[in-house]
Amino acid sequence: MPKNFKRHLITAALPYANGPVHIGHLAGCFLPADIYVRYLRAKGEDVKFVCGADEHGVPITIRAMKEDKTPQQVVDDFYKIIDTSFKDFGISFDIFSRTSNKEHHETAQAFFKDLYDKNLFEEKESEQYFDEEKQTFLADRYITGTCPKCSNENAYGDQCENCGSALSPEELINPKSALSSSIPIKKKTKHWYLPLQNYEAWLKQWVLEDHKEWKNNVYGQCKSWLEQGLRSRAMTRDSNWGVPVPLPDAEGKVMYVWFDAPIGYISATKELTPHWEDYWKKDDTQLVHFIGKDNIVFHCIIFPAMLKAHGDYILPENVPANEFLNIEGKKVSTSRNWAVWVHEYLEDFPDQQDVMRYVLCANAPENKDNDFTWKDFQERNNSELVAIYGNLVNRVFVLMHKLCGGKVPPFHMDIKDSLDDKLYEKIVTSKKAIEESIDSYKFREGLFQLIDLAREGNKYLQEKEPWKKKDDQKSIDNCLHLGLQLCANLAILGNPFLPHTSQKLCRMMKVVDRMLEWKNAGSIQLLKTGYSLNQPTLLFAKIEDEQIEQQMEKLHANAIAHEESEVPTEAANTNPIKDEIQFDDFSKIDLRSAKIIAAEKVKKADKLLNLTLDLGFEQRTVLSGIAEHYTPEEVIGLEVTLVANLAPRKMRGIESQGMILMTEDADGKLIFVSPKKASKVGSPIH
Ligand code: 2FM
Ligand code: ZN
Repeated sequence: MPKNFKRHLITAALPYANGPVHIGHLAGCFLPADIYVRYLRAKGEDVKFVCGADEHGVPITIRAMKEDKTPQQVVDDFYKIIDTSFKDFGISFDIFSRTSNKEHHETAQAFFKDLYDKNLFEEKESEQYFDEEKQTFLADRYITGTCPKCSNENAYGDQCENCGSALSPEELINPKSALSSSIPIKKKTKHWYLPLQNYEAWLKQWVLEDHKEWKNNVYGQCKSWLEQGLRSRAMTRDSNWGVPVPLPDAEGKVMYVWFDAPIGYISATKELTPHWEDYWKKDDTQLVHFIGKDNIVFHCIIFPAMLKAHGDYILPENVPANEFLNIEGKKVSTSRNWAVWVHEYLEDFPDQQDVMRYVLCANAPENKDNDFTWKDFQERNNSELVAIYGNLVNRVFVLMHKLCGGKVPPFHMDIKDSLDDKLYEKIVTSKKAIEESIDSYKFREGLFQLIDLAREGNKYLQEKEPWKKKDDQKSIDNCLHLGLQLCANLAILGNPFLPHTSQKLCRMMKVVDRMLEWKNAGSIQLLKTGYSLNQPTLLFAKIEDEQIEQQMEKLHANAIAHEESEVPTEAANTNPIKDEIQFDDFSKIDLRSAKIIAAEKVKKADKLLNLTLDLGFEQRTVLSGIAEHYTPEEVIGLEVTLVANLAPRKMRGIESQGMILMTEDADGKLIFVSPKKASKVGSPIH
């Protein structure tokens, strides 16, 4: 049983204002938070749902620099897009604030000052990389160099994406600034650190002992952080974009974005209500942070340590983080534009917010990463929403208009049968089951209970067959009376998940919103006998193959168009152009078109395929490192470009006579640089 809280403060992770929101964001935290909040509101609870745009941090300054804008312009533009997307989609925040506003700066500065005055920061000087050309200190991500572990030349100052090692900029060989390509110098700088190790014992008790009920993915991640041991973390940065550090000797220093962003929850509540302190300072408030898995450490370790250090605020009661939602089997990538953007979805599917809500909730990555596919979107709409939920409501309303004169028929107790009892029981148990699911943040499970109730309704109609009972009006009455009460129950129980549909149902039933109060669910006296109801409107429309094909095309075309239009900026260019060569150097390379006529794996070499190439006038054996990307069967018959005069090389005891040209697609898959199909094998490529 959930504890009895007097009020609830529900937060959803502040999205960065350097891009629009996509459906992965919705599935990660905004949709579950919205379902939870709508449920609490329907229960008549005192609840505030706060969020806002996260408008600081390095990526925003980089974007501004690239686009020749000020950071403020960047965040102003995206704030509007994000805010509109949420409103149009029906994420029902009580406030969607922003961290660049004055109130937030003041709140964050007061918070910082409080910790400073209590002497809870460590002040440390260190040497950090500085780009003299751009006159700026470089965040770890903006230093590139050679990985000391695997020699990848394009490793970042915080991580090598080739071998996965976590790095610090000091470890990079030949570090370069990604902003100007110049060689950065080391410069002294002072920062304020929060010694997280001082909170480790308390965090171990609070998370690992007192919150064993947290979701496994959240608890597990916290455990591993805490077991590795915590250390001091800098809470300030050198930058001119962010919340200025409120100290006299802190010129050019701002707060680390992860210090100020969660304080954004407090500032947003302040902005929302003069009673904000009740929500942040009283123990009988339930504070819940909805987030994605990449935010776990910040919400379960760092922010709680900050709150504990401050001392005036309550701590989260739960942090139900979701894993990630992939799109068509691939990780969402905003830089590669592999995403389904909320504002674009709403343009193509206006008024179909609930279809996406349904699909995202049914596939919610609650315990593991999950996949969104357009085919599944279509199937869930057509065979669940249309065929089960929509069909039930439509049948009940059409039959009621046809057989009962458009009015709620009476229920005759004297002929009540076991099918009626069974349906009533199902309504009651569904309410309980959905409550239990939502209370324990298992929204998928709750949604399945809802659709199962509608399924049960269809079965009931099928078994009762009122359309065949022309001479038995009493039997027709009972079936449709109960059918209508079931529709009213679906509207209430479905409201947290599919609010637009519940509104439509209310209009059809000519009832006011108050009917949707949660306490009404489970009753079969919601619609009064004799009350006349509207004609049914379609709750859900079938989605055609064509619409899905269009979406698939759009997804792929956007991703490709994006790649082509991406101006290779200095920051993005992680493969710098090699030193200049003369034409004579180039003309020495003999490129030929060739056809792969045989292929097989090379024993004990995971990456190599042994290829036989036909050049028309001769055949060659070439070893190519493509075995992780292609099977031998896939490449036989392909035309490729061969460097035909490369000196032969022996690998695994086999002589490779040339090299095949390859490039990479957006996902790093190797693809052939092919001559046009009709080329004559063996002919030179100029
Ligand atoms: O990961 C993100 O998108 C962050 N902007 C989330 C911030 S949540 C909170 F702390 F504000
Ligand atoms: Zn590496």
